[in-house]
Amino acid sequence: MTGTVNIENTDKFFWHRYDAIYSDELLRLENVKKVIEFGVFKGDSVRWLNRQYPEAKIFAADILPIQAEWTQNKDIVYYQLDQDKVSDIKAFFGTTGNEIDLIIEDGSHFPQHQKNCLVIGMDYLKSNGIYILEDIHTSHPNHDYYIQQGKSENYISPLHVLLFIEHYMSNNAKIEESKIKELTVNSLFSFEEIKNLIENIKSIKIYRRSTLPKKCYSCGSSDYDYHVLKCKCGTDIFAEADSMTAVLVKK
Ligand SMILES: C[S@@+](CC[C@H](N)C(=O)[O-])C[C@H]1O[C@@H](n2cnc3c(N)ncnc32)[C@H](O)[C@@H]1O
Repeated sequence: MTGTVNIENTDKFFWHRYDAIYSDELLRLENVKKVIEFGVFKGDSVRWLNRQYPEAKIFAADILPIQAEWTQNKDIVYYQLDQDKVSDIKAFFGTTGNEIDLIIEDGSHFPQHQKNCLVIGMDYLKSNGIYILEDIHTSHPNHDYYIQQGKSENYISPLHVLLFIEHYMSNNAKIEESKIKELTVNSLFSFEEIKNLIENIKSIKIYRRSTLPKKCYSCGSSDYDYHVLKCKCGTDIFAEADSMTAVLVKK
């Protein structure tokens, strides 16, 4: 194995502070055999998953070809794909097969790509498997990615759909088809895609960071201006559309 395992190197830890969520939520998984992560970057989270689940195959997908710094061993399979292409994602899942224990989607973070992976990936998870949609705040209307991706204003993104389903589930209310249809107007989602998510999801939790990052992702400093909640370099450290992650459990 090359490279050290250090989750603290990833923005999962020092910026988004998702480590606490991960350590709680992932406890429910047992006998983990198949894990997928979209988004490899420097390979730190793949190394972490490889160590966390020594009995599992880790399938790691990225738009990049294999990089020299990515750990190579018999339990890690890299796959090059573009999350913009539904055919790429389907072909990838064709290689992983179903009965997947855990999917972490930490790729481009564009709302359309989040949706592509979510609607396809849920079908491949095993019962009680976990889908983590990291950084779903990029689907928040105040985020640049939402604004850049939208064909028009106020479109329905993955964040809207998951908030909708969570809301109905927490009220223990039946979701009428007319309500689903409303979510298909000016939307990234079709009726069938939303219906399939509703039928497959057992529970949803959407987390937001309620603390400051340990250090700035932009300059690495932790010298903040607390009056304006910015790093001294000017980066927002407590923006409305930041550090949200969705944790879904499959029925
Ligand atoms: C946030 S980084 C992944 C970080 C990594 N999971 C970690 O925790 O260390 C996002 C990755 O998504 C990849 N990416 C960007 N656009 C993509 C696309 N269209 N399809 C697939 N991967 C993409 C980038 O190459 C980058 O490696």
